[in-house]
Order: sequence, then structure tokens, then C-alpha cells
Amino acid sequence: MVIQVVTLFPEILAPMLTTSMLRRAQTVAGVEIRLVPLRPFGIGIHHQTDDYPFGGGPGMLLRADVVVPAVEWAMMHHKAVARVIWTSPQGKPLDQALCRTLAQEDHLIIIAGHYEGIDERALEILGGSEVSIGDYVLTGGELPALVLVDAITRLQTGVLGAQGGALTDTFEDGSGGLEGPQYTRPEQYRQWRVPPILLSGNHQAIQAWQRAMSAERTTTRRPDLLDAKRIDDAD
Ligand SMILES: C[S@@+](CC[C@H](N)C(=O)[O-])C[C@H]1O[C@@H](n2cnc3c(N)ncnc32)[C@H](O)[C@@H]1O
Repeated sequence: MVIQVVTLFPEILAPMLTTSMLRRAQTVAGVEIRLVPLRPFGIGIHHQTDDYPFGGGPGMLLRADVVVPAVEWAMMHHKAVARVIWTSPQGKPLDQALCRTLAQEDHLIIIAGHYEGIDERALEILGGSEVSIGDYVLTGGELPALVLVDAITRLQTGVLGAQGGALTDTFEDGSGGLEGPQYTRPEQYRQWRVPPILLSGNHQAIQAWQRAMSAERTTTRRPDLLDAKRIDDAD
């Protein structure tokens, strides 16, 4: 899989791409993550990338005649046809199902807006879909792009240590609910003990307990997810 992130500020993303799981995704799982800086596509000797909005209004917009050539350049630099994603607070809300869909793509181009956003014609010319990471407004699309890259790459085979580890996470496990509480060593910390069932070695009983905890958490914390979760009497 190849993911290209088109951005005016590649330096925001670069450190995270070389750390922990995103690094592993590239070194072990064969995911290629490339930053496409907008500045070289800027206009004139100062490589101008933004300009005032027609009709007035605060802030600046990234220019279509900068963004479009940058994305077209990115499209040409991988053989598979690219799926284009525009980060935007106006987009489809990101959830685990959308991450799973995007994780199937061979080639993704994610565009980070900045300032007041991007000249609308860039989206009209290039097509693609807008994705939001939540109902709040950030100063730029760099963090949303990182969120997307992280959520998508961790689903690629070989990125997480234990095969299938992602399947037991919240919103996964085939049920759509929240994962229950988890514990590691020591068995007792201050006066707090790990639930004895987890030390019993009885895998069936442990699984039943984990499902019950998941059902309880989902019910109390996210009742809106209950439709998606298959809670039965045993839980
Ligand atoms: C200040 S925002 C632009 C907001 C735009 N003027 C509006 O009102 O819809 C600048 C850039 O940040 C990114 N951004 C901000 N909030 C976001 C969110 N919740 N999800 C995804 N991207 C976001 C987008 O790339 C956007 O182009």
C-alpha cells in the first residue's frame, strides 16, 4: 500500500512517521508513506501557495493551481489508481468501518488543508471524498492526516505485533462494542489485584468474562453502539 500526504507543512508529520508503529508499518509491513510538500508547487519566485478569498472574509485559502498540480504529481508517482481523501471538518465522520475500507486501497492520497481551507475548484477538478475526524475545527489537516495514516496502517498485516491483535480492539471483535478492561504485571499493585479469573488459566471462562465486561462497558459508556453489538443472555 502507498499513502501520500499532500501538505504545506511536512515537518509536522515527519517525526511521527519515523516512530513506533508507523515506522514498523514501513520497515516490516511494506507500507510506503510519502510526504508531498506543497511549497515546490507554489507560484512565482516566492512559491506562493495561498491567497485571499474572493468576496472577502478572514484568512487565506490554499490555491487550486498549487494543490491540483501537487496531487496530480502524486497520482503519477504510483502505478495504482489513487483514491483521493480531503481532510475537512465538513467530511464524512471517520469511524473504524471507514478505516477498514480505506485499508483495502493500494494507493491513497490524503490532502491536508490549512488556513481557511482550499479553493473549492481543487476538489471539483480532482474528485475524491472529504473525511472529518470529528465535529471540531483544527488549524490544519496535518493532524487529521496523521490520524488517518495511523488508523489505516495499523490494520495492515504485520504492523501490530500479535497477528489479529486489532480484531479484539474497541469497535472491532465483530461486535462493534467497547473492549473490556485489561491488566498486566504485577498481579497486585498497592491494594489493587488483577481479577482472579484472568489468572485462572481457564480460557473459556476468561473469554466469557471478557465478553461480559465488554457488554457492560458498552451499555454504560456507549449505549448508542448497542444496536451494532450482539449482546446475548450469556453476556
Ligand atoms: C481551519 S480548517 C478550515 C475550515 C473551513 N473554513 C470550514 O469552515 O469548514 C483548515 C483545514 O484543517 C483541516 N481540518 C480542520 N478540522 C478538521 C476536522 N475536524 N477533520 C478533518 N480535517 C480538519 C482541513 O484540512 C481544513 O482544510
